[in-house]
Amino acid sequence: MYGPAKGGDAPIRKVTVPDLRARKEAGPPIAMVTAYDYTMALLLDEGGVDVVLVGDSLGMVVQGLPTTLPVTLEDVIYHGRAVSRALRRAHLVGDMPFMSFQVSPETALENAGRLMKDGGFESVKLEGGAEVAEHVNRIVCAGIPVMGHVGLLPQSVHAMGGFKVQGKRESDADRIVRDARALEDAGCYSIVIEGVPADVAARVTEAVAIPTIGIGAGPQCDGQVLVCYDFLGMFRGMRPKFVKRYAELGDAVVDATRRYVDEVRSGEFPAQEHSFGMKIVQSKTG
Ligand code: KIV
Repeated sequence: MYGPAKGGDAPIRKVTVPDLRARKEAGPPIAMVTAYDYTMALLLDEGGVDVVLVGDSLGMVVQGLPTTLPVTLEDVIYHGRAVSRALRRAHLVGDMPFMSFQVSPETALENAGRLMKDGGFESVKLEGGAEVAEHVNRIVCAGIPVMGHVGLLPQSVHAMGGFKVQGKRESDADRIVRDARALEDAGCYSIVIEGVPADVAARVTEAVAIPTIGIGAGPQCDGQVLVCYDFLGMFRGMRPKFVKRYAELGDAVVDATRRYVDEVRSGEFPAQEHSFGMKIVQSKTG
């Protein structure tokens, strides 16, 4: 019953890593979102996003966990398979979950390879700065593009004492700039900057020759990323300052569900137009 649209569609060219690198100079800013399933990914791709990330945020918005820490490589692979079947244009990035890359450059390479082979990803993302530069380099040397992630690092939530804006002090801001440079030197093709003052993100963006993609990092990055349920108004538990809601789909879902429940209870649904009839075949005998 369901499946990709068939026939007649003009071929659409996939966004590549060199395309994304070129956007630093040539623009326009990169529009990136997260997705975790086929149906949503189809819609986001049709909406024209450049990059889709299967983020380990899936632990919080799909699995209902308080942090991203329990997310496994298998979880990211599972969601990656579904999302990869939907994307015709957007580049697909897979997040490396907590403890899938920190232990050693070898483990990082092995697990990045699994994301590419089994999850259908076209590049991987990992959190951290200078301390993971060697890990990044090992992955990049195997031909796997890597997106870095600096600033607020959700996998370090306990070390940070919560999901708190980073880089407010000059020395912390300097460290974030140094981390971004280390990631660029290690071979990252772009860097997510999360939860830092806008001025700090602007400094990082100026300091590196690869595109920066901000979330809660102000307007001066080379692109922006948001969690799909946030910008669509579906994740209603929290309303972070950095999220702009472009729709209120959460309200629409609750309203539609209430109407469905009412109509089932009253017998109004299903009507004749939603029901199948029988084919009457006349018998020749008798
Ligand atoms: O896991 C995630 O969704 C992310 C983005 C918010 C950048 O890392």
